[in-house]
Formats: sequence, structure tokens, C-alpha cells
Amino acid sequence: MKVNLRNQDKFENRHHGKDEQELQEMLKTIGAGSVDELIDQTLPSAIRLPKPLNLPRPKSEQEFLQYIKRVASKNAVLKSYIGTGYYDTITPNVILRNILENPAWYTAYTPYQAEIAQGRLEMLLNFQTVVTDLTGMEIANASLLDEATAAAEAMTMLYALKGASRKKANTFFVSELCHPQTIDLIYTRAKPIGIDVVVGNHATVDLTDETIYAALVQYPATNGEVIDYTDFIASAHELGVTVAVAADLLALTLLKSPGEMGADVVIGSSQRFGVPMGYGGPHAAYFATKDAYKRQIPGRIIGVSVDGEGNRALRMALQTREQHIRREKATSNICTAQVLLAVIAGAYSVYHGPEGIKGIAARVHGLTRLFVDTVKKFNYEVTTENYFDTVTVKTPLTRKLREQALKYGINLCYHGDESLSVSFDEAKTFDDVIALLNVFAEVSGFQGEMVIEEELDFSLPENLVRTSEYLTHPVFNTHHTEHEMLRYLKSLENKDLSLVHSMISLGSCTMKLNATAEMIPLTWPEFGAIHPFAPTNQVGGYAQLVSELNTWLCEITGFAAMSFQPNSGAQGEYAGLMAIRAYHESRGDAHRNVALIPSSAHGTNPASAVMAGMKVVVTKCDERGNIDVEDLRAKAEQHANDLSCLMVTYPSTHGVYEESIIEICEMIHSFGGQVYMDGANMNAQVGLTSPASIGADVCHLNLHKTFCIPHGGGGPGVGPIGVAEHLMPFLPGHVNFSTQPEYLPNGQAGAVSAAPYGSASILTISYAYIAMMGGEGLTNATKYAILNANYIKERLNGHYEVLYTGANGRCAHEMIVDCRGFKAAGVEAEDLAKRLMDYGFHAPTLSFPVAGTLMIEPTESESKAELDRFCDAMIAIRNEIREVEEGIADRNDNVLKNAPHTSRVLLSENWTRSYSREKAAFPLPYLRFNKFWPSVSRVDSAYGDRNLICSCIPVEAYAEAEEAN
Ligand SMILES: Cc1ncc(COP(=O)(O)O)c(C=O)c1O
Repeated sequence: MKVNLRNQDKFENRHHGKDEQELQEMLKTIGAGSVDELIDQTLPSAIRLPKPLNLPRPKSEQEFLQYIKRVASKNAVLKSYIGTGYYDTITPNVILRNILENPAWYTAYTPYQAEIAQGRLEMLLNFQTVVTDLTGMEIANASLLDEATAAAEAMTMLYALKGASRKKANTFFVSELCHPQTIDLIYTRAKPIGIDVVVGNHATVDLTDETIYAALVQYPATNGEVIDYTDFIASAHELGVTVAVAADLLALTLLKSPGEMGADVVIGSSQRFGVPMGYGGPHAAYFATKDAYKRQIPGRIIGVSVDGEGNRALRMALQTREQHIRREKATSNICTAQVLLAVIAGAYSVYHGPEGIKGIAARVHGLTRLFVDTVKKFNYEVTTENYFDTVTVKTPLTRKLREQALKYGINLCYHGDESLSVSFDEAKTFDDVIALLNVFAEVSGFQGEMVIEEELDFSLPENLVRTSEYLTHPVFNTHHTEHEMLRYLKSLENKDLSLVHSMISLGSCTMKLNATAEMIPLTWPEFGAIHPFAPTNQVGGYAQLVSELNTWLCEITGFAAMSFQPNSGAQGEYAGLMAIRAYHESRGDAHRNVALIPSSAHGTNPASAVMAGMKVVVTKCDERGNIDVEDLRAKAEQHANDLSCLMVTYPSTHGVYEESIIEICEMIHSFGGQVYMDGANMNAQVGLTSPASIGADVCHLNLHKTFCIPHGGGGPGVGPIGVAEHLMPFLPGHVNFSTQPEYLPNGQAGAVSAAPYGSASILTISYAYIAMMGGEGLTNATKYAILNANYIKERLNGHYEVLYTGANGRCAHEMIVDCRGFKAAGVEAEDLAKRLMDYGFHAPTLSFPVAGTLMIEPTESESKAELDRFCDAMIAIRNEIREVEEGIADRNDNVLKNAPHTSRVLLSENWTRSYSREKAAFPLPYLRFNKFWPSVSRVDSAYGDRNLICSCIPVEAYAEAEEAN
């Protein structure tokens, strides 16, 4: 046997992993001679790329990890005292390894299927409880994207809730002491929806001005000042003005809560609860408000309900309201949020408990006090009067201090040459502060002996000291040892089905492999411990990563430039539409504001269009699922004078490559419109076709779909946009871009995220995927995604109807299975979804884009064996439906209606069901050897919505439940 010494394991083979024999068997089932023949039958020739992708040679896993280590080493990890909403933090190791680095947590999907998601639902409920307790509010959601966008969500929610006395008011007042990136983003978000923004001093603003409907203040303020807003809020309320407070959760453990001050909304970031800074993200923002506003809260809320047996069960509350975003009536487009990061913040609170977190906050405050007391002795002027962790120093020595601090590896927050701020955090040690003080001493020329006290009293103003309790629930007072915590986390993990168990064929969500090697660099400090506003000469690694990823994604999409700022697909839509808006404005066409959107579009499309100030006109689809070109033409013609754009998903959400896409794009251009492509289905394009070659002007990519960022149970995500050259000047900018390098062609448009590069740290994942796959590997991934989908389609043929196919009867990378015919037997698509859990599978996408259907997307990463197991389960379920149809099984008491079956139900003394336990639990042989047990039976969502509880319920309620059992 000859050995090739240069050959290393090829990553691509691990990503899709099909051997030649399996491939041939699949092609035989499909009835195609080769994969290329199948692709030719599936993709219209007019849209095919003329040449292969030009990307670097693929690296093996080992090569890649060595390479990225060198990239990482170009980021300098300095001691950050920059603050401004981002702080160093210590991720407890038990959380780092068992959540952040654990695929059982990070590969799960948004918990729509509550029965197999009780673990993350519980941790999200913990998160909501932390937020409501610390903010002193009544209800909180399960995370938003970042603090600045959460502030914008508060602005729009309060606008929708304007009281009678300010019905006509149109101005949002923003305190000048809010973080600059928040103010920046508020400007972006306010303009298209016609809200005026006034930035000023909250102490002097004239709230009798009837144009003001609401205000935003920061607590503690960006300069560190801790301000009591009680009187401000009271006088605002007297005048019918509502108030949102941006608050720091750690500070709230020591300070009077905004709820106690009367705030209407409290928003902020939970980053410093154990989530690394990551050069800007991802982190979970939070949003808390009064119970009265619960139906207007943006994003998802977790609530307590009961299951079919009356046991406590959690699920996303008010889901019918928000599951599919309120389309053109929407005020928010939040879909993917920051679940994994909210889970980490929740776990951090569970692990430390109220005393632990308070202790951390007290130490941080103490270090700040030590700094203040000492630098005053060096004759520095500290201008912050009342502080928690941040102080501002006014000094003509700022420039010298910067030079000296850099020598010692320290970053401070500089405001020109006359002042600077210093923010402390839990990662700073006593010795760190001594080193910092030495810098200040040296620069001031202080000659005396530095007297340091190791124990100090609080120096918080009495009226602001927190007296109310928080985190009193047992969950925050039990798991403080590592064993307890480890077992608690494991107990939650065991309740959730993720990619570690089986394929998750969620159409449109692309639940592909999230390879371990792709995830490894993410938790290195060279990527994690970098502040988003660190000087550019310290972030050479990120610069290289972003610029290479930009080049690669431009090659893949055919565009001229990307912006990595949007931190979800929907945020990408918004950024792209804002670029289109700015482009029209620049040409004197500001009146162009109509967005044409096909009826099959994802709910975020119309929601984003409304947020970008556009008027949505819905166009029809034909009976094959294609855009009805004549209807589109008629509507484009009708709105020719004010046409802004078409939003089109390609391949369509119906799982077909529209033949007419090029004609459609040309037609829109001929009417003066731009084409926005929703790239959520890019997994069916890479290497074979591209948005730019089809004719799109701008497109977002969901890196958390096609480019392997795991879904994290509902986030994080990254939704970069690619644009053609004429839209480049209108890409998002950022207040901090004045100090950013030229490695990306940043635009002059407003920011859409708090951080310049959004959720920068997880770009490492997509970077890894492309680097290890190479051009050919990526193209093969697309081909195999199409192969796998068509294989499932053929295997289900004769059992289920597939709703839409292309001209040659092929589907793209996903297909819609029609379940509406089963209604006659009383079986709903939801029953299939729940029964799949008994077979160990997560349901495909339920009732999107067509009600009563399942949309299946297998992705390229599944082996033939796994596809077969899934098909066997689907076919077995079809036979169970037939038993109901034929009267063999009872219409109401059958395995479908009662699914899923928990071990608790199956092991009960009294089994009265009309079918056997065996049939319920082990309908196929493989289940005897590998069974995933749902932890609750079917959850009653309506009950939970009628009795809305969105935080950890009081201990007594558990006792009552025990008694009831
Ligand atoms: C077709 C389509 N467009 C847009 C989105 C929105 O993306 P995100 O959830 O990242 O905001 C999705 C998400 O599922 C989608 O499927």
C-alpha cells in the first residue's frame, strides 16, 4: 500500500460524509444518473454560475486551527477599562464547558416545540426572573439583540402606547448621558418611521413641550454618574410622557431599581453576566416593562403553562401573537434573538446566587472607590460625583496617560485630550488596580508613598442604595457548588432535543453540522476578551478575519462589499432596505417607498420594510408556489413612480428555483426599483448561482444557517448584507468608525447594531467553515443539500404529497409536505409534529409558509442512514394516520392525538388508552436502543396565555403541584 505523506483528513468529507455506494443508492432512488445530472434538472440553466468559486485551498482541521491561532495572536488582549456598555467578565468554567462549549446547548433550535425544549425554556425563565427582579419591573422578554436596538424597541413600543394627552407627540427625548452607540442607533431607527429625536440634558429638558411622547435615560450614565430619576419620571408621568431607562444589571444589585423609580420600560445588556466581550458580541440584551404592556413587548417571552397531564410545563407565551411576526402591521422584526447568551446570563445568576452577584458588584464598586480615593491624592479631578463602577477624570494629562497606560497594556476610555473614563469589572484584580494607579501616579509626578486600603466602605448615595430583595427563588439559592451546578445544567440539557440526538429538518432554518473545529477559536481570549472600541492597532486579528471573510463572501455572492454589522437575518433585511432607501434619496427619489413582497415571504420581510419606512404591497404566488409574474408586473407598473424595491427569497420559501427570477429582477429595475434578496436560502445557491448574478442589488445572509453558526436555541445570529457597488456608500456606519481601520468599505448610513461589527466573535465560525471547505467543498455542500432533499422527496413519494416542485419535478434544498388532507380524520399537522418526538425527531417547520404543512430541509450534513431513519419515521406515522382514517384507531384516543408520550405517562399504574404502551413508545425497532424521552406531554398554550406567568413561580406553587399529583 502506498501512503501519501501530504494527505490529511479532508474536512469536507466529515461535513457531508457520503460514500460512493450510498451516493449511488440515493441517485437510484431519485432516478438521476449523477449528482450533476440532478442539479441540471433542478436549477434553471440561466442562473448557473459560469465558473467555479475562487477561494483559497481548503485547510484540514489541524491546519486551520494553527492558522487561526496566528490570526488570533494579532489581537492584543489588554486590560480593558473602556466600559461604555462592555465589561470584562469571568465565565464560570462550569458554564463555559457545559453550555458555551457544549453542542447539546448550542445546536438546539428556537423552542417552538416546547415538549422537547423544557431545559432551555427553564433557563430562559430564570433569565427573565433575573431581569424582572433586578430592574424591579413586572415582566421581561427572553432577550433582544443588543442594548442599542433594545432602546430603539423601547422607543417604538412607547410610541405605539402614547396616551391621550400626547397622542400627536412625535419626539423621543434621549439623555446626552446615554452611551454614544445607543444614541447613534436611535437616530437610525427613528428617522424612517418619522420620529424626531432630541438629545439633551434630562435635568433641563422642558417636558411641557407637547411634541415629546417619551424619554430615555441611562443608569448609571455613560460617564459613570449614578442619577436618581425618581422625580424626573414622576414629572414626566404627570405630563403624559413615558420613560425608558437603560440600566446596568450588575449595578442594580446595589442600586435602587428603575422599577422603584417608576420607569415604564427598562432595557440593557446582560453581557457582564458571564458573556465575553467578543469585540462587540453576541450578548443578550433585555427588555422589561409593566404587565399592562405585555402584548406590546417585542421578541419572545417564556411563560408557565401546563401539559396534557396538568403538570407544569413551559413554552413561548403569546405565541400566536408573535410566532409569525405581525407582517405589515409589525413594529418590530425580532425573530432570531440571543438565546444562548441569555441562557449563560441566567446560569451565571443561578451559579452565583443573589449573595454571590452582590459580592461581585460590591468588589467592583470597591475597586472603583479605591481608584477614586487614590487618584484624588495625585491631584486628579474626578468629575463623577456618585458612581458605581465608572468614573470620569478631567485632566490635561490625558494624552500622556494614554501613552503610559498603553505601555502597561491598559486601555481606558478617552474623550479627546481633556478627559477620560475608567470602568471596573469583576475580572480586575486588586493588583490590576495598583498597576493602573501606578500609571496615574507616574504621569502626575506624584512622589509620595501610595497608601492603599484593602477594605473600603460603599460610597453610594443613601437614597440610591438598594433595599429591596432579589433572586429569592430557590433556583438562585441552591446550585452554588460545582457539583450542584453541573448536575442542574445536565438535568436541563437532558430535556432538550438538539443536533446531538438527531437531524432537525427545519425548513428555512438550515440546521446543518456545526463542526467542533469551527467552534474552538470562539472561546479563546484573543477573540473573546476584546472590547469593541479597542484601538484599531490592537485588533489586527479581527481586521484580517473580517477582511478575508468579506472577500470570500463577496466571491460567493457576487457582490462588491459586505457589512457584518447586522446581528440577525431580520436586522440584515433592515440594513439592506435602509441602504436602498438612502440610495433613492441620494438620487432625489426620496418618494420611492413601496416595497413589493410576495405572499410567501417570511414575516420578517414586511416587518423590516415597515421599520424602514416603506409601504408594503403584497403580490400573489401561483399554484406552483412561484411568484405570479403577471400580478407582480401589474403592481410594479401601478407603483412605478414610487417603487422602492422588491423583496424576494431565492429559492422561494416554497422550495423551488423560480425560472423567471432573472426576468423578475430586470422588470423591477426597469420600473426604477431595487431588488432585495432574502438570502435565508443561500444554502441552495452557494457555488451554483449567486444573488448578484441573478440580478439582486442587496442580499442578507444568515450566517447562522448556511455558514454554520449554530442556532443556540434561538440565537445568536449574524445577518451580514452584501451589496452591489452602487449601494456601497449606503452600508451602515458607526460612531466609532471614525477610529476604525479601512479594511472594510464602511458606509455613511446610520448604525444598525451597537457594535461596529455586530456579533464579531462568532464570525470565527463562518470563517472556519469556508476556510476548511474551500470553493469545491462549498459547492458540493449545495449539491448534497439538493440531493438529500430530493432523496427524502422520493422516499416519501406515495405516502405524502409534496406541494411544490420545479419544472422537472425536483425540489430545491427543501420541500413542503401537505398535511391538510389528514384533517378529515381529525389529524392536524401539529399532531404529526408531536408524534415525531416519540420517534426521536424534532418536527420540520410547521405551518410556514403554508398553514397545515410541514417544510422539510435535511441539509447536506446528514448521512443516508439518518435520512432513512427520518423517512422511516414519517412513513410509520403515515400508517398511523391511515389507521385513524380507516377506523382501526380511535379518532380521539390515538398515538397521534396523545403525542408526545412521556415515560411518566407510560409507566403509570393505570393505562387506559386504546393502544399499547409499546406502540406509543417503540413504534420502530431503533427506538429500543436509542430513545429520547420528551419531558412533558403536549403543552397547553392557551391555558398559559390565559394565566400569564413569565418568571420563576413562587415556591408555594411547586408545593401545590406536588399535592395535586
Ligand atoms: C426566509 C427567512 N427570512 C428571514 C429570516 C429571519 O432571520 P433571523 O431569524 O435571523 O432574523 C428567516 C428566519 O428564519 C427566514 O427563514
